[in-house]
Amino acid sequence: MENENKVLELRRKRQKAYLGGGEKRIQDQHAKGKYTARERIHLLLDPDSFEEFDMFVTHNCTNFDMENQKYDGDGVVTGFGTIEGRVVYVFAQDFTIFGGSLSKTYAEKICKIMDLALKVGAPIIGLNDSGGARIQEGVDALAGYAEIFWRNVQASGVVPQISAILGPCAGGAVYSPAITDFIFMDTKNSYMFVTGPKVVKTVLNEEVTIEDLGGARVHTSKSGVAHFATENEDETLTLIRKLITFLPMNNMENPPRIACSDPVDRYIEELNSIIPDNANKPYDMYDVIKSIVDNGEFLEISKTFAQNMIIGFSRLNGHTIGIVANQPKYLAGVIDINASIKAARFVRFCDAFNIPLLVLEDVPGYLPGSHQEHNGIIRHGAKLLYAFAEATVPKITVIIRKAYGGAYCVMNSKHMGADLVYAWPMAEIAVMGPQGAVEVVFKNEVKNSDNPEEMMKQKENEYREKFANPYQAASKGYIDDLIEPRRTRFRLIRAFEMLATKKISNMPRKHGNIPL
Ligand code: HXC
Repeated sequence: MENENKVLELRRKRQKAYLGGGEKRIQDQHAKGKYTARERIHLLLDPDSFEEFDMFVTHNCTNFDMENQKYDGDGVVTGFGTIEGRVVYVFAQDFTIFGGSLSKTYAEKICKIMDLALKVGAPIIGLNDSGGARIQEGVDALAGYAEIFWRNVQASGVVPQISAILGPCAGGAVYSPAITDFIFMDTKNSYMFVTGPKVVKTVLNEEVTIEDLGGARVHTSKSGVAHFATENEDETLTLIRKLITFLPMNNMENPPRIACSDPVDRYIEELNSIIPDNANKPYDMYDVIKSIVDNGEFLEISKTFAQNMIIGFSRLNGHTIGIVANQPKYLAGVIDINASIKAARFVRFCDAFNIPLLVLEDVPGYLPGSHQEHNGIIRHGAKLLYAFAEATVPKITVIIRKAYGGAYCVMNSKHMGADLVYAWPMAEIAVMGPQGAVEVVFKNEVKNSDNPEEMMKQKENEYREKFANPYQAASKGYIDDLIEPRRTRFRLIRAFEMLATKKISNMPRKHGNIPL
């Protein structure tokens, strides 16, 4: 064959490979409202930036007549490209080939880009849409999954790993996304479960729909498995691009800084009056966050899970920060099991990837009750404490209002390694709230009084005057400064810039033993 024809043959072969499982299956995919693997990659990456690997790889299976059923690429599209000019590695499972099911060679393709991503130090993004282990391959497919899991774990904390679930993700296949840092689910077509509705019915005689078992709503509001629920695939892919802009390429780099158009020394007058006079009345912590950060931009994570705890990324003077904030509007901002787990994993992500932490605190304590105790609030609550204590990135806390009990210690207090703690003048820092305290300490005075109700009030007022303010803590140096709310943005920017060169490390050890 002449050389020119060889080029033409390559083009023809590529055209055929681009069709994956064929026109008919592409139409079926579109009919479900889903994009194909290559269409997804095209939407995710910068235009014309994708370089594909292993387009002509096929499987080696000879069971069940499989040697006569081969498709170029074998059900997964892999390669690298850029997002906002920065390199990322991508794999997209191609449902048009054997339902995107995973074979040994398919797993090898994914492992190849994961290995490269680790060598180069660049994020890995997986677009999942698969029927799971390729049944015809038997143990080879299981081995392939395990090879991917192993690499997910090696990459954890080294390069950011992001998963989008854009179709089925079932059985043990869920564990690769589960190890990654962020999971996106599209509310229309995605579901994740270890066992599907049919098995649930057989084993437990429980009727449950696919959505109620493992749809996006369930995983972003009840289980907390997924972090973002999106309306459609376009939104998913756009949001992944946005998330990447906040992150460094790997654990040895700082997050990228972007130009900041929002004045650094902007006064925020409304913050001086945002806290209601009645300490039991809520306000919206989102208003505080959005007013402080650059241009009000806040990329919230796990928005509908444990809404008493807010986490997400913002910028201060163009630098990425991770925010952890109590939400007084939801369960009064109390810390419960889910809130602790949610915030702890986020703190550890930020610490692994050199993202400074800002804590905005208004917490009445840990949630009491047998439900929480029996489900392990002691073990799970300890996760947040552990995560803050081991984090070595710059850490600043602003006590906005309540900082009570163990929650005062846990929410990045000075004693647990915060670099700076500021408080607003409305801050209340004490072992517990006035009513609880009086019931314990002054129960006899109240009981023996001629007017118990009046005595109760009087003791509560005394207690409030003594402890429900920031001055005790400030007099002991536990708070570095009391700041006017309207100056919060400016003070934080200065403080984080001062801390930018912070360098500390924990004692050498193989790894700690976080209570899991
Ligand atoms: C081989 C598979 C496959 C699989 C789907 N296909 N899943 N081929 N292995 N696991 C093929 C189908 O035969 C079909 O081929 C094509 O993909 C599309 O599948 P459909 O069933 O027609 O599509 P749909 O109706 O949309 O249903 C999708 C589905 C269903 C819900 C995913 O296919 C399904 O239930 N598949 C099996 C899921 C499963 O049990 N997987 C194993 C999980 S356990 P044709 O030629 O007709 O187009 C597991 C263990 C991992 O993964 C352990 C890791 C440690």
